This record gives sequence, structure tokens and C-alpha cells, in this order.
Amino acid sequence: MITRLTLINFKAFRSLGLPLGPLTLLTGLNSSGKSSVLQALALLRQSADNVARGLLLNGELVELGSARDVLHDDFGPADDPDTDAPVVGFVVDVGKPFEFVGLYDPEEPDEDVMQMRVRGGTLPFLAAPFQYLHADRITPAVTYPRSRQVAIDRGFLGVRGEHTVNFLRHYGEKEVPDGPLRHPDASSPQLRDQTAAWMQELCPGVNLQASAIEGTDFVRLSYGFGGTAGINATRRRRPTNVGFGLTYALPIVVACLTATPESLILLENPEAHLHPKGQSRMAALISAAAATGAQLVVETHSDHVLNGVRIAVKHEVLRPEGTVVHFFRGNGSGAEVITPGIDKDGMLAQWPEGFFDEWENSLDQLLD
Ligand SMILES: Nc1ncnc2c1ncn2[C@@H]1O[C@H](COP(=O)(O)OP(=O)(O)O)[C@@H](O)[C@H]1O
Ligand SMILES: [Mg+2]
Repeated sequence: MITRLTLINFKAFRSLGLPLGPLTLLTGLNSSGKSSVLQALALLRQSADNVARGLLLNGELVELGSARDVLHDDFGPADDPDTDAPVVGFVVDVGKPFEFVGLYDPEEPDEDVMQMRVRGGTLPFLAAPFQYLHADRITPAVTYPRSRQVAIDRGFLGVRGEHTVNFLRHYGEKEVPDGPLRHPDASSPQLRDQTAAWMQELCPGVNLQASAIEGTDFVRLSYGFGGTAGINATRRRRPTNVGFGLTYALPIVVACLTATPESLILLENPEAHLHPKGQSRMAALISAAAATGAQLVVETHSDHVLNGVRIAVKHEVLRPEGTVVHFFRGNGSGAEVITPGIDKDGMLAQWPEGFFDEWENSLDQLLD
């Protein structure tokens, strides 16, 4: 598990050391650097296959632009005995530190590959099962791609979750191991029934089916509403005729259900397009994934997700010391992170101004 990530001269951060737990929530203002933390981990992962080539700024996981774009505007001195040029640095601590240093070449600021030096050897996390779901995910569509290499061989859902339907089609019978992720109301431990059971937390009665469209490179998703009074259970509906939020949430559900103790899962806004109770249940699922031993880093704007995680701590699904909440409140030049501690009852040690306090602010105005 990564216990600490340090960013040097990377995007909004001149220098930032961030403790990480089995579950870490990144919260705070817009444009305060939350996604940049996920991008840093994804960038290392993206560059891992061929470290000799360097830091690959544009690829399957992230498209960060050029070296000039990622180097912090007000970069600090290199603090590196081997070079005078500015560097973009990452230290990943997994019990011992691994250091990745991207060398900025002032002659080639528009290059999207930076020469890289690695200290500490190859990192296990760079080869571990990995999912990264962007805030911008798949929307209801008639078809989804069918890539054997991505979804089946690598088990990757795609950064937009675009390979989720094909993954489900292929691995639907795989069992979710006994433990916190297994939904007690599902008709079987199989991934397809477990996915349906968790999706029913978002929309009671829903079931789903992923199937190949023969002779094409596409797969299809369909929904049924068997448990809903008055609707014929055998009638299938295409995603475009079903609520947006369900399809949007599907990759998050599948990413969590397939978590293993070695997985690293990066999620942006798992709450997007879900109703408040659905957001809270999503937090329960995310907490269950972390409880299996996977590491999750989750960017969220949802107080329901925060509270769902606090409840998971109170119910001893998560350990308080392994549940880390960061509040990012600087933006532009002054990035700042506050980390309110959480106790065994799920209570937070502090509520800095701007940290999920809008409920009280609005209530004060209403009662004034
Ligand atoms: N090279 C850079 N130097 C300084 N700040 C940067 C650089 N690149 C991006 N930023 C800043 O990073 C912030 C965006 O970070 P991001 O992680 O996308 O925020 P969030 O996810 O919290 O909305 C913006 O405030 C932007 O000005
Ligand atoms: Mg963001």
C-alpha cells in the first residue's frame, strides 16, 4: 500500500506530501489540485511499462499536455546533485520510498515525454491490478466497445469505464469473494448478480445484461425492471431509455466489486448523477472495497459520500487510522491541504471553513 505520495513541482504543487490510507478522500474547492493527485499516480503507472522512455505525459490514462504544462509555474530549485534543470518529482512511499524524477529540458518545453530517473527499483504498485475512472464517464449508449486486449486480457475498464460492459459480459460468472463486498441480497456470488444487487441499491428492482452483438466489435447493455410493480420483467430496455445515473455509476460498481487486496483504484466523483441515498450507498461499496485490502483514492464533492465513509468507520468496516480525508482549499498559486482526523465513531476532529459546511450556511440564512 502507498502510505505517502510526495509531489514536487507538479502542476499546482511546488511541494506537497500527502499521507494515503486504504481509503483516502480528496475533497475541496474546484481547481484546488485534487485530480492532480490522481493524475500523478496515473502518470507513473502510464510510464511504468517503459521506464527507459521516460515520463509519458500523454497516454491511455492521462493527457497532461507538455512538460511546460506539468512543471509548476513557480517551480522550486531542483535540489538534485545531478542536474541544474528544474525537475518534476514524485516520491511514492510503500514502506520504503521510490523516487521518480522527470527532467525538464528548457530547450524542449513542448515535448510530452520527459527524461526520467528512477531511484529505489521497480515499484510493485506499478504492476498491481489498477483502475482509474475519470469524472467524465460513459453515458447511456446503444453499443459499447469490445476489446479483448483491454477488457479481458488486462481487466481494465477504461478511464471512462467504456470497457465495463464487455468486462461484465466476459467475467460475469466470476465470483465476488466472501467478505465485505458480497451483497447479502444477491441471488449468487457471481459478479453479474452482485453487480445487479449493488445497482439495486441505486435503483430498486433493476437488473442488467451485457451481451455481444454477433459479427461486430461491439457489446450491448440492457436493463430490466423485474421488481418494479406493473412493469413486465421480461421486457428489456436499452440504456438510452433508462436513467442516466445508472449507466454512469456502473463502472464504479464493477471497479469496486472486482477489487483485490493488491488493487489500486482511483475514482473521480463516484457520486456523479446519483440521488443522495445512492451516493451514500456508493460510499458503503467504496468502503467495502477498501476493507478487502484494496487501496482507493477517491475525489468527491459529496457530503453523502463523506458521511457514508464515516458510517463505515463507525460500523468497523474501515479502521479510523486507515481512513484519510484531505480538504484542498488553495487554488492557483497557493495550494493548501488540511487533513481532519477521524475517530472510531466516525467523528472528524475539525471542520475547516468551506469543508462541507454549506448545509449550515444555508440553514443559517433560512433561519435568519
Ligand atoms: N503548471 C502549473 N503550475 C501551477 N499551477 C497549475 C499548473 N497546472 C495546473 N495548475 C493549477 O492546478 C489547478 C487544477 O488542478 P486540478 O487537480 O484539476 O483541480 P481539482 O481536481 O481540485 O478541481 C488549477 O488551479 C490550475 O491553475
Ligand atoms: Mg478534479
